[in-house]
This record gives sequence, structure tokens and C-alpha cells, in this order.
Amino acid sequence: MMATEAKKIWMDGALVDANQAHIHVLSHTFHYGVGVFEGIRCYDTPEGPAIFRLEDHVARLIASARLYKMPIPYSAKEIVRAIDETQLANGIVPSYIRPIVYRGEPALGVKNMKGRISLAVAAIPAKKYLGEGSDTGVRAKISPFRKPHSDAIPSFAKSDGNYTNSYLAGTDAAQDGYEEAILLDQNGFVAEGSGENIFLVRGDTLYTPGTESDILLGITRSSVLTLAEDLGYKVVSKLLSVNELLTADEVFFSGTYAEIAPVKEVSHYTIGDGKPGPMTREIQQLFYRVVSGKEPKYARWLHRVGPTVAAPAVTTSRRAPSRNAA
Ligand SMILES: Cc1ncc(COP(=O)(O)O)c(C=O)c1O
Repeated sequence: MMATEAKKIWMDGALVDANQAHIHVLSHTFHYGVGVFEGIRCYDTPEGPAIFRLEDHVARLIASARLYKMPIPYSAKEIVRAIDETQLANGIVPSYIRPIVYRGEPALGVKNMKGRISLAVAAIPAKKYLGEGSDTGVRAKISPFRKPHSDAIPSFAKSDGNYTNSYLAGTDAAQDGYEEAILLDQNGFVAEGSGENIFLVRGDTLYTPGTESDILLGITRSSVLTLAEDLGYKVVSKLLSVNELLTADEVFFSGTYAEIAPVKEVSHYTIGDGKPGPMTREIQQLFYRVVSGKEPKYARWLHRVGPTVAAPAVTTSRRAPSRNAA
């Protein structure tokens, strides 16, 4: 992710040059990781740029902020408008959009709940997070770092601090030559990737871990569940053992940045025949059609971005329209 490619960043109502978008070094969020954010994608579609499931991302952002006692001083509608403005100001498609809620004023002391809550939104060019593996299959390592229990750090919230865990797992996997890590929960069941949810195929059934494994409830995950069901597959959310993972017919990741990425190897175990499996391919292809506006059935998931369309002029005449009127 080349964060330096952002041009304008929305900060509390103003679009500022990206290289001027600073916060204080003594800010609460910087020191304690107490902030919440979203990762959102804007895709190119035949009708112009469209943000995928924007309202759901904004709802999750608000829910995450609530969990961390950070009342956002903007309504859901205002956050949507801020994201639209950022997308338009940067004009990048496809883009990866990152709204973040933080305490940016100087304030040391963990329990400090004072201080302004701020919102910033950036948009950068979207790339393939998992590189070529997104097409040919990713090699993933079962991480020695486990997901923290939600009693300690709630996985429901997409909080800054959660990502120290993802960082440890992801960098450990990368140093061992893998593209991604798979984290287990505190009981040793499969949880998720460092930035993705995970799915397994066994027979004609699609399995994915549920909230009991302290996962982030991914918006792509929920899209996959809907698409798989619509394709006629049986879908089960349950505790999944490492044995079930290693002997699965197919495995794939889902996430906003990773999209749908097949997994071909887990900790030196080849998954299936080492190639993306048929159910993964079918779901992946449908997903790409949906996000690029080629499946009218799922048009409700696309939020159109564009200059505000001028409202049609109000007609004052009460005369019935001419029959020849177009
Ligand atoms: C830890 C983690 N799990 C799952 C996901 C997938 O969530 P979503 O599909 O909403 O992007 C992400 C990405 O945001 C993540 O960071």
C-alpha cells in the first residue's frame, strides 16, 4: 500500500494536501493505539466509480468507535459525504479508502477520554494486496501468534491496536517466505488471516469460522456468504480445527484489500491439488462481476460516486404535459 500516493486528505471537514495532513506526536491514538478505522474499495463500473458496501463500512466504523467510547462527531450521512468528497478530490479509481477516527490532540494518560475525536479520510490507488497469489494461490503460514480473546481486545471493533497482532503474525509469515499468516484463536481453532477472513471447502460445503473464534466480521465475508448461498452451496459457520484446514479441498481468504484470494499451501501442506479450486474460482469470478457493476442483482451493494447531480428544475406550470413531450 503506497500511502504516499494520496493527494488530498479529508481532515475534520477540510480537504488538505496529503503532505500537510499531520497530527501531534503526543496524541492519545499514537501512543495507545486507541483509534478505529475502515478499509473500503472504490471500483470502476460501466456507470462510473462505485464504492462497495459503503454504508456497511460506515456502520461498522460507528460501531467500532462506540465500543472504544469514541463518539464520532459526524452522522453516518456526513461520514458518507466525507468519503465521497475524498474520493472525488483524489479522482483515483480503483481506490482504497481509509477513514480513521482518532484522538489527535496531545493527551498522555491511557484513561484519558477527553479531547477532540477527529475523522480523517484518505484514498490511495488500490493494488492487489496478495500480489500474484490472488490469482494463482497464496502460500500461508499458521502463525505462532494467536488472536487475542475478545474479552481482552474485542475483535468486533476494527481498532488500530488490533493490528499489532496482525503485524506480528504477518511479518513472521513474510520472514519465513509466506505471503500471509493464518491466526488461530486462543483455543487453537482457525480464526482468520492477518487482514482477511478465511473459508474452507469440504465436499460441496463452504465453511468459515464465526465470532466464537474472535474474528473481525468482514464485510467481504458477509458478501461471500450471500453469494455462495445464491450459487446454491451449503454454507456453515462453525469452529474449525487445524486438521480440517490442512485437509480441506479448497481454502481462500476474503477481505476488502485481499478481495477473494485462493490459498494453495498452508504451512507446507498443499491444499487440494495446489491450484485454486472450482468453488473458489466460481465465487471469486462472481465477486469481481458484482463489484464491477456487472450483476444487477447486487446493485444495492454499490454506492455511486460522482458530482452531485443537480435536482431537476421545479415546474410551476400546472398545465398537463403535452402528449408530444419526450
Ligand atoms: C483482521 C481482519 N479480518 C478480516 C478482514 C476482512 O474484513 P472486510 O472484508 O470487511 O475488509 C480484515 C480486513 O479489513 C482484517 O483486517
